Amino acid sequence: MNALEVKNLRKSFGGLEVISDLNLVVPFGQRRAVIGPNGAGKTTFFNLITGWTPPTSGDVWIEGQRAVGRPEKIARSGLSRSFQRNMFLEDLTVLENLRIACQASHPCRRVFWRSTSAFGEVLERARMSAERMNLADCLETKAKHLSYGQRRQLEVAIALCAEPKILLMDEPAAGTSPSERERLINLINELPKDLTILLVEHDMDVVFAICEVITVLSYGKVLATGTREQIQQDPVVIEAYLGCGHARG
Ligand SMILES: Nc1ncnc2c1ncn2[C@@H]1O[C@H](COP(=O)(O)OP(=O)(O)OP(=O)(O)O)[C@@H](O)[C@H]1O
Ligand SMILES: [Mg+2]
Repeated sequence: MNALEVKNLRKSFGGLEVISDLNLVVPFGQRRAVIGPNGAGKTTFFNLITGWTPPTSGDVWIEGQRAVGRPEKIARSGLSRSFQRNMFLEDLTVLENLRIACQASHPCRRVFWRSTSAFGEVLERARMSAERMNLADCLETKAKHLSYGQRRQLEVAIALCAEPKILLMDEPAAGTSPSERERLINLINELPKDLTILLVEHDMDVVFAICEVITVLSYGKVLATGTREQIQQDPVVIEAYLGCGHARG
């Protein structure tokens, strides 16, 4: 059994096929990068895996369970994601944002207000997620007052609240300074080794620092999968990146 299996996945928006017959297998514990030019379909691919968008056809298996058309399965599967754009509430503090995220994924969320022990667990989990992303010192800071790098850390911390076994990150380092990027790389690399990670990222330094295997997407298809050296020497990849008129823009 693998953490994730994607079989013959397709997605069209109107006449535009954005994901075309995409196949991918990610074993448990692997750190896999998904790279590709703007408009290659990376975010759409994450939307399909997480059930945000239904595929036109094809299948997604998460931890051996068929996920397509079963959002409740995905929610309970131990898969969580962070977003390309920050999705938290700006006027709430770091702790409040994390508490909401932890509460949403807590098994007792429906009877939450009745249970003091559930509340304690949620707070504990929120604090742990903050610690993992180096935010323990700003729990009471409103999200809008965080530095840019801390905001990206919060975006990942929110995804960690679900205590995922598989973590999907969509450009976690987008827009960060070199020192913020360095901190983020270290924090991600300090996450438990058995956590499976799928990382979409344009910054190749971030990709190489975190991932051992890289999948290159182009026009919604897998162009190549391999190690850093294999990808860098692959003529098809070189052609796709250096060729003209590639990005859908
Ligand atoms: N809801 C939608 N309706 C119509 N077209 C869409 C929709 N979502 C995405 N697309 C199109 O699908 C293509 C792939 O978009 P997507 O956001 O998945 O690319 P991406 O690889 O994440 O790009 P980037 O690197 O810029 O984030 C683009 O041409 C985009 O305009
Ligand atoms: Mg994207």
